[in-house]
Amino acid sequence: MKNLKILLVLVVFTGFTYWGIEPLAHSVFNPYVSPVDYDFTEIFTPDGAKPDKNAAKAERARIMGLIAGGDAADGEAQFNVCMGCHTLQAATPPHTLDPKMLVESYGLVPPDLSYATLIYDEPFLFKYIMNPNHAAYKAAHTELQKELSEKEKKSRPKEAAKIDETTAKSIIDFDEKIDMQLSLMIGFIADEESAANLMAYLREVAATKGGKPTYKELVLNACARCHSVKYDKIDVKADVAKLKTYLGSVPPDLSVMIKSKGKDYLSTFVNEPQKHLLGTTMPRVGLTEESQEKVIAYLERVGDPKKDDRALLGVFFVGYFLLMAAIAYAWKHNEFEEMEDDDS
Ligand code: HEC
Ligand code: HEC
Repeated sequence: MKNLKILLVLVVFTGFTYWGIEPLAHSVFNPYVSPVDYDFTEIFTPDGAKPDKNAAKAERARIMGLIAGGDAADGEAQFNVCMGCHTLQAATPPHTLDPKMLVESYGLVPPDLSYATLIYDEPFLFKYIMNPNHAAYKAAHTELQKELSEKEKKSRPKEAAKIDETTAKSIIDFDEKIDMQLSLMIGFIADEESAANLMAYLREVAATKGGKPTYKELVLNACARCHSVKYDKIDVKADVAKLKTYLGSVPPDLSVMIKSKGKDYLSTFVNEPQKHLLGTTMPRVGLTEESQEKVIAYLERVGDPKKDDRALLGVFFVGYFLLMAAIAYAWKHNEFEEMEDDDS
């Protein structure tokens, strides 16, 4: 009975420490942000309208319809607009450019578009091609941060008032910046029909190569024009000084991001950076849910390769303690029996 009581006290105290303090530490270090919206609702919301998930879904379906009916042959001609800045290695014949020339002109190497329709969410890409500034920055910034959800505010009450104030200011500053075209990607397709045709062509190119991009190819395409991943020998090919002028800061190396920021943070940051860093120049990349999971799995493999070993060690550790507990219990039982024998 006494043993049971001791066990109960131990369980209650350990439980309290774990459930009471751990999550508290989490919410203080990582304030709550709402989950990623893979429909990118606000991009599909007309200017001035209130974001509406169903209306956005309908708009996305309409765009997918346009792409399905797109004329790939005309799309190939539309690619002329993109040719000066983007390669298309998987096309026949492959379209290549000199990376040095690209770095000189733009400060970075714009991504190869062979896999674009597989890596990025297609309706996002369609919108991005027509207005990169809006898709990558403006829509996310104004809509997400103007209305920090009540739950988000509750998770950081002290900051909430400050957030309201700085949000308003930062939106004005940032809007001025993006109104002057923050994104360097300035290849526009003005009409929906041409954009849909171009998407149809990009789909065709992605299909000729067959298969899907590997985890590393995904990161090379979606992140490595700005970030290096030194642990996996990915060196950003950009002109760092120019990158800094463009983005205001040098994008950090991603090798150990998984350890410093954690999986939950990365899962919301990658597609919705404005939610975490208000006014950041890191663009919304527009990855599909699948691509995003792969990018994070990749960062986990590179930054924390011993994770599986650690988990296995944990199992051995618990096993060891269970074994020792059993031996201790048997020994104690034995001792008591001897004492009882002595008493009698
Ligand atoms: C003047 C050069 C230029 C032209 C022309 C251009 N782009 Fe870009 N593009 C860029 C640069 C620079 C970036 C990287 C910008 C950034 O991430 O801030 C980029 C980024 C992209 C991305 C990555 C988007 C993302 O979410 O990460 C896609 C996709 C893309 N461009 C498609 C196109 C297509 C399709 C065309 C033709 C209609 C085109 N671009 C024309 C320079 C250009
Ligand atoms: C156009 C350039 C660009 C691209 C493309 C880009 N990033 Fe970034 N990223 C930045 C910049 C700039 C910062 C620094 C942001 C800041 O401090 O405001 C940053 C910061 C980050 C951070 C640190 C966040 C923090 O809280 O400090 C992570 C993690 C990150 N990026 C991940 C990614 C991943 C993953 C991808 C690819 C899916 C990616 N980025 C693509 C420019 C980029």
